[in-house]
Amino acid sequence: MTRSRHERLLLAVAFSLTAGAAYPHGDVAPQPVNTDALPDVGEEWLTENPYRDMGEEVWKSAIDIGASGFNQNCARCHGLGAISGGLAPDLRFLEAEEYGDEWFVERFRLGYTQNGTTKMPAFGELLGQKAAWAIRTYIETRPDDAAIEERSDELKEIRDHLASGEVDTEAVVARLTEIAAEIETLSGAPVADSIAARAAEKLTADPTGFHAAAEILTVGLSAAH
Ligand code: HEC
Repeated sequence: MTRSRHERLLLAVAFSLTAGAAYPHGDVAPQPVNTDALPDVGEEWLTENPYRDMGEEVWKSAIDIGASGFNQNCARCHGLGAISGGLAPDLRFLEAEEYGDEWFVERFRLGYTQNGTTKMPAFGELLGQKAAWAIRTYIETRPDDAAIEERSDELKEIRDHLASGEVDTEAVVARLTEIAAEIETLSGAPVADSIAARAAEKLTADPTGFHAAAEILTVGLSAAH
């Protein structure tokens, strides 16, 4: 059985958390982020996320690259999936669009030191600007986990239905799209990257991809616990 990208990501996250747990905060080496798939944006640091307005493909790839960058470098303090456990601010609430960009990138570049103690390391030099904006795109599009939790029973039913293989694709896509529209971001960004949206998208691209869509729901629902 081959593992999906999402599953591999979760494994990588579980691994990096275990690895991170061996050290106190602050002195875990930053993990480089492969941003080759994203357009270059120059050397000069921008104050607004350039990947928000470069079309859907760039935006989606920024989310995926940002997910791995975030989970490797930020999650140990800011929480898996950006859901904070209280150690550091919950970044899902950072205001969307250009309103939160400048503050985000300042913290990212410079980190935060209080009375000589590094509370957050500086990432600017180490990870670079492309990784910064990819992570920003990921953070901003996190779905409200409570909204997913409220719909988890129905999402599980849909998952089981998909797994049965006898599916009216159009009806399922329609329902998933409705659910996706009800799951909002906490940042105020217009589109939330939820498992409902991902599963609908998968089925739209491949109308018989029931198992792949079911797996997106399974992995997402188990990650939520
Ligand atoms: C060692 C723990 C740690 C790591 C790792 C870390 N942060 Fe932080 N971060 C903090 C703490 C603590 C604060 C709160 C600082 C303060 O009081 O303003 C913070 C604040 C922030 C803020 C400002 C939030 C706000 O609401 O004002 C942003 C943005 C941020 N971090 C982004 C990131 C990103 C992106 C990464 C990964 C590239 C990251 N952080 C990695 C500990 C961490």
